[in-house]
Amino acid sequence: MWKIVIFLFCTLFASQLCGSTSTDCNVEDLVSQCGGFCFRALWPILDHISYHQESGSNASDINHIATRVQLDKIEKQLVAQQQVLSSLESSQKNIPKNFEQIGSSFYYIERYSQQNWFAARDICRRMGGNLASIRSDAELTALNAKLPSSTEFWLDINDLGKTGAYVSLSSGKQTTFLKWSSGEPSNTSHHCVLLNNLMYDANCDQLTLFICQAGDINE
Ligand SMILES: *[C@@H]1O[C@H](CO)[C@@H](O)[C@H](O)[C@H]1NC(C)=O
Ligand SMILES: *[C@@H]1O[C@H](CO)[C@@H](O)[C@H](O)[C@H]1NC(C)=O
Repeated sequence: MWKIVIFLFCTLFASQLCGSTSTDCNVEDLVSQCGGFCFRALWPILDHISYHQESGSNASDINHIATRVQLDKIEKQLVAQQQVLSSLESSQKNIPKNFEQIGSSFYYIERYSQQNWFAARDICRRMGGNLASIRSDAELTALNAKLPSSTEFWLDINDLGKTGAYVSLSSGKQTTFLKWSSGEPSNTSHHCVLLNNLMYDANCDQLTLFICQAGDINE
């Protein structure tokens, strides 16, 4: 089949090539004179095509096709799995960089830059978190283990709204976990809470280190 097509093509090619110079040559002459190199050029390609055509009906090639179909299927599955993985990755990315996991939550501990409570709150928000809210003994213990001793850090707990009613800034709810140092809270005009192993009320304008927390604070 292919051989016939190429034969016709080369015949046509030869007559085009020679038609202008030779006036009365028959088709066979044309092919042998001018079409020769056409055949020489195309014959190996022709052989290649027919080789593959003949082995196309071969059982081992059918196996190859079956394998190909399976590979396509596997490839589709891989793409689907990659999509699942990348969506998992992007949910992990909700934890801003610089936050480290401590216990079951993610924190950023500011160890150098002292800020008043409001500036610290803003910095945490810009980083994608909030000032830290400690909700349990387990969280307090885990966090304290990472903090330098005798150092103060702002938390998100405050009674700025109503003196004595301590709320968590990030949840907006009344704080359920308070671990005051003895004698605290000690001053009704101190409305922000800091952590120094235990909790203290302090003047919100005081320059203090701070801890930010990221993740679902209201869980
Ligand atoms: C079928 O193909 C295999 C590998 O391509 C080859 O070794 C074998 O000789 C072929 N058999 C026939 C009947 O063409
Ligand atoms: C309470 O805090 C305010 C503001 O920081 C301060 O002026 C005042 O002296 C404090 N009172 C006591 C009893 O420490």
